[in-house]
Amino acid sequence: MKALILSGGKGTRLRPLTYTGAKQLVPVANKPILWYGIEGIVAAGITDIGIIISPETGEEVKAKTGDGSRFGAKITYILQSEPAGLAHAVKIARPFLGDSPFIMYLGDNLIQSQLDPFLENFNKQKLDALILLRPVPNPSAFGVAKVDENGRVLQLVEKPIVPPSNLALVGIYFFAPTIHEAIDQIQPSPRGELEITDAIQQLINQEKHVEACNLDGWWLDTGKKDDLLSANQIILDSCIVASTELKVDAKSQIIGRVQVGEGSEIINSTVRGPVVIGENCRIENCFIGPYSSIADRVTMVDADIEHSVILQGAKIVGIHQRIVDSVIGQRAQLTNAPPRPKALRFMIGDDSQIELV
Ligand code: DAU
Repeated sequence: MKALILSGGKGTRLRPLTYTGAKQLVPVANKPILWYGIEGIVAAGITDIGIIISPETGEEVKAKTGDGSRFGAKITYILQSEPAGLAHAVKIARPFLGDSPFIMYLGDNLIQSQLDPFLENFNKQKLDALILLRPVPNPSAFGVAKVDENGRVLQLVEKPIVPPSNLALVGIYFFAPTIHEAIDQIQPSPRGELEITDAIQQLINQEKHVEACNLDGWWLDTGKKDDLLSANQIILDSCIVASTELKVDAKSQIIGRVQVGEGSEIINSTVRGPVVIGENCRIENCFIGPYSSIADRVTMVDADIEHSVILQGAKIVGIHQRIVDSVIGQRAQLTNAPPRPKALRFMIGDDSQIELV
């Protein structure tokens, strides 16, 4: 069994962050989204992993993620010259995949469940495809499945205007090598992409063995700012373990689960967990509220923040109003706000500079 993770694409919905970086590398609780997928795959016993990358962000994904040794895996990078669809990504990965069955994992998806039970089901039943489904309130934003009363998959449609059900396709699929013939038989969709939903539909039309399982536990498709903040909240809630030795001065107060990286200083500040603070940060005269993730080398002085994600090297100085529900890009600078507004809401791109006067 192999795995194919899709980490190419354009990432338009997370702009401006993704103008300068891969959306799959945006951190959730200070760890790139992509890495959660890799860890889940390795935990299911699969160590031969292909990662689809794009010309724009591929080098960054490679440099950050490496050859897989840090995960106990072997990673092969596969360049997709343009984002021509999920099935196109499988097509170009054919030399890597060979005749092996594989898990296809969309690099911006995060799930709580382990993959083992699905993998076992897929292997035991010798399926051609196993898809995971989840009821959602907005099915038009996803691939949607129609299933009969016995749970058999009848129809799949990609982002339908009139959805045939509320069952969205989760971005994790299990395929036998028969998927390659199905992909060879489909044409690009009206939006110009080779759709994996069309390829699976092709398997269904040919009466191949396609099954669906319902996914329990949380599932996050981190495509947009609010999804990213929800993912951050859920991961901080479930995964953060308090650091035992914190470098704080006598005037600071640390409440709840707070994880702080090497070389970070907390001076005259209150930090109320769950919070994660990266390495070499300076936090001075601040309130850091629950569900905040602060990446490496961030400086915060005279600032008040909660339920927000701050990327590497950002600088927030003299903002006395509480910053909430915000994502601040790498190296962005926020300085000197007057004390009037009650709350500030931001999504600021990498290298932005904001001065409130
Ligand atoms: O998240 C679940 C949804 O993911 C499914 O319900 C849909 O059926 C499926 O098409 C997909 O929809 P998205 O609109 O979320 O797909 P997106 O274009 O965001 O691409 C998903 C991932 O695959 C993302 O990490 C980028 C990568 N990708 C995408 C394309 C189109 C590639 O690597 N190459 C590509 O050509």
